[in-house]
Amino acid sequence: MNQKLKDTIKDIVQSGTATPFYFYDTELLRATLEAAVKAYQKYGFVVHYALKANSHHEVLKMTRHYLQGADCVSGNEVQRAVDAGFDPGGIVFAGVGKSDAEIDLALRNDIFCFNCESEQELEVIQERALIQCKKARIALRINPGVDAQTHHYITTGLEENKFGINMWELESITEKLKHLPNLQLTGLHFHIGSQITRLDPFKSLCLRVNEISDWFVSKHIPIQHINVGGGLGINYHHPDQEAIPDFEAYFQLFHRFLQLRPGQQLHFELGRAIVGQCGSLVSKVLYIKKGLKTNFAILDAGMTELIRPALYQSYHSIENISKNDQQLLPYDVVGPICESSDCFGKAVFLPATSRGDIVVIRSTGAYGEVMASHYNLRDTAPSIFAKD
Ligand code: LLP
Repeated sequence: MNQKLKDTIKDIVQSGTATPFYFYDTELLRATLEAAVKAYQKYGFVVHYALKANSHHEVLKMTRHYLQGADCVSGNEVQRAVDAGFDPGGIVFAGVGKSDAEIDLALRNDIFCFNCESEQELEVIQERALIQCKKARIALRINPGVDAQTHHYITTGLEENKFGINMWELESITEKLKHLPNLQLTGLHFHIGSQITRLDPFKSLCLRVNEISDWFVSKHIPIQHINVGGGLGINYHHPDQEAIPDFEAYFQLFHRFLQLRPGQQLHFELGRAIVGQCGSLVSKVLYIKKGLKTNFAILDAGMTELIRPALYQSYHSIENISKNDQQLLPYDVVGPICESSDCFGKAVFLPATSRGDIVVIRSTGAYGEVMASHYNLRDTAPSIFAKD
């Protein structure tokens, strides 16, 4: 973490703000959004910000200035996006289990599109749209059978996953759509997984999408937009070296390999790549405890503020910003929650650490605050935005 940010965080703590808290580097968020826009605008692509990664009002206020749309997975996210000023005409609504009330809310707001994941969901949206005398725009979320080569909990594009419609169901579903007059098929939707750090799974997705598009052409079913979801990963190991993901390479790959038909638009749903690196979880060391083979640094932040390491064994870079010693010692950095999995990192090399030191866990802007819980009756950690 650069010295300026360290000093800002120290000032915040010294001014009496209690730890733990989420800290957001607004300048980096803005720079990331600018880099993304620069990289995709030249191709005429549309990017929907995936609220599930971080739905904080401040984050949404900024993202809506740069990205045309929002990607929501619950009625509350649709409402949050609308409240934050996203144009409802740019909202996509995905999810395997949309309730009737959530569908009604999205219909009332005339959203851009429902990303539909099963035959029965189509029937229910038809029913709800009929009641409101509306025509719902829908995209079929198709399971492309592409392996995202990421953690199995965040792989979604395989037949064994609960998401999407399988290829072998397409014939009957498109046939069924002919009898659902309040639905208008406008798009195809795909999402193969998250935290994808190599580009080849995305290339495989493009080639598969081309084949699937051909199938729709052969059936004379017009498709206005193709949505390839999100998934672009970030560098958790070196957040300062790669603070902004390589959007140029990512969008160029889709431009090169995905064949759009005349008039067709390509859409994306990015979350982590936009907000991941701008957030850090700031905590203080409560105790240092000697273990059999290691020392424990026990923080006042735990899996209740950041569940990713416990849930996916994910790596986050950890820094003690109170000390500058060159000599480093290994610590198991853990939280105070009554679970052995409440561990942010094992054998993390830190300067000799003591009670009261400020420890920063990096790259928590995506799937950090939004996945917080009140387990152990913990308080809600506040969020603080550095002014840029
Ligand atoms: N579109 C769909 C349909 C999705 O399911 C997701 C993420 C996204 C877009 C945004 O993906 P992103 O660009 O952020 O990779 N909690 C996990 C990640 C779960 C991702 C769920 N879906 C984690 O902390 O790694």
